[in-house]
Amino acid sequence: MIMTQSTRIETILPFYLKGTTVKIPESRVRIGAKAYPAPCVIDAINYMYPNLYGRVYCEGPPCEAIDTVELIQHIREYMRRVSKDVTYDMSYADDALSFNDACTIRWLHGGSSSFTLLMRNESGLFVRKVAVRSGVEGNGSEKLIREHSYVQNTHLAEYYLPVSELTIDNGLNMVYCDMPFYEGGDMAAALINGFDTDILFSFLETLFTSGFCGSYKSLAISESRNSFYSNYTHRFENRINPILDHIEFKSLLKKGSIHINGKRYANPAIIMREISTSPGLFEIFKQRVSVPCIHGDLTLLNMVANDKNDIKLIDPRGYAGGFDPLYDLGKLMFSSSGFSSIIKGHVKSRQRNGVFYVSIYDDRELTAFRSQLMDFIRNNKSLDMMRALEPYFEQRVLLFEAIHYFADVLFRYHTDKGIENALSCFLIGTIKLNDLYASVKGKEAAWL
Ligand SMILES: Nc1ncnc2c1ncn2[C@@H]1O[C@H](COP(=O)(O)OP(=O)(O)O)[C@@H](O)[C@H]1O
Ligand SMILES: [Mg+2]
Repeated sequence: MIMTQSTRIETILPFYLKGTTVKIPESRVRIGAKAYPAPCVIDAINYMYPNLYGRVYCEGPPCEAIDTVELIQHIREYMRRVSKDVTYDMSYADDALSFNDACTIRWLHGGSSSFTLLMRNESGLFVRKVAVRSGVEGNGSEKLIREHSYVQNTHLAEYYLPVSELTIDNGLNMVYCDMPFYEGGDMAAALINGFDTDILFSFLETLFTSGFCGSYKSLAISESRNSFYSNYTHRFENRINPILDHIEFKSLLKKGSIHINGKRYANPAIIMREISTSPGLFEIFKQRVSVPCIHGDLTLLNMVANDKNDIKLIDPRGYAGGFDPLYDLGKLMFSSSGFSSIIKGHVKSRQRNGVFYVSIYDDRELTAFRSQLMDFIRNNKSLDMMRALEPYFEQRVLLFEAIHYFADVLFRYHTDKGIENALSCFLIGTIKLNDLYASVKGKEAAWL
């Protein structure tokens, strides 16, 4: 099915839902009274319904920055009208993404709802990571190309699972590469299945020692201000504001406090405002140095293990340059305090009469790992330099941990079925941020 110039969204989406592949020429797509560049509309559809990647596509470069929030709201409204229940169709992935005599065994779910597939060919099992166009928040082709290039070129290659050459299919705007399958799965699963934490900590120790390689750059005050804004303030607002209008979050964010698991917590937006405007808290939470980026999304879900207890990293940010060392340590904390379980659908949250409940700390092994991790951050020699340069490293790691939860709310809202995972991220983030704030508030003057 090929569309003509200035296609109306109403014309495209029914085909999309029926499963017919639609090719749109490089033109504009009209939604209501407005016309958007077709590539932007395609990216927005793929953003919201990533499990249907590639079914609607068009030629042309990735989309320029436009008001995607408005566009997404339009598409979401329209989809709700035409289809009460959009079905997530796995058979499409099987057909379109199985090639070269390989068949899909199952879909491996990570944080970005990408197409990471466990496949088999005549040589056995392997993993194929596929991306189409811009995907979710840039997690599509551009991300996979960056990720692939990083793994091939980094001096830390020995810590990463090797990847095959990247195949680029310009027709479908699709890229993919293959890698070995590590049968122990990701580290969250491996820990729950009894993986020895000593092996993991010695892997982390060598990783940080080689990764930071004794080099760092001190930040000027203006750089610290910029990173404060982009890492915390803007990241929080940017991921929470787009959902303020949605009925499920409206009541949550309008109030001064939120009742969770029988306790009252301050609204996180109020705490974030306080943190962003208090000079004393800026001194505590500001980034002082940058170090080489060794991963950029160092969650337990992005480490895999085989049956010989060999650990490898996967899915890096694909960025080589100066990076906040506490960011990735916060990612490790965040992925062991509930996030990995949220991704696997093991965390439940609900609301009854304005009171919220969320089940956390459900995996004993992950909770134990998290407390050992804090000891590692406080004491391990691979982090000596980081601790000397970042005196408030503990508070900063905990702030990152909380912010990583908020940063994932929008993503989970758009990509997971229902709002439960988005709500879980919001509620756990709120608890973490409140606990941290209570531990620093009023103590700034004495500490500094
Ligand atoms: N080579 C592999 N061996 C074993 N499991 C893997 C492998 N690659 C990915 N996985 C599993 O698939 C998940 C998603 O893969 P990942 O590349 O991290 O995608 P995403 O970008 O969606 O996070 C991982 O969290 C892990 O559980
Ligand atoms: Mg991942």
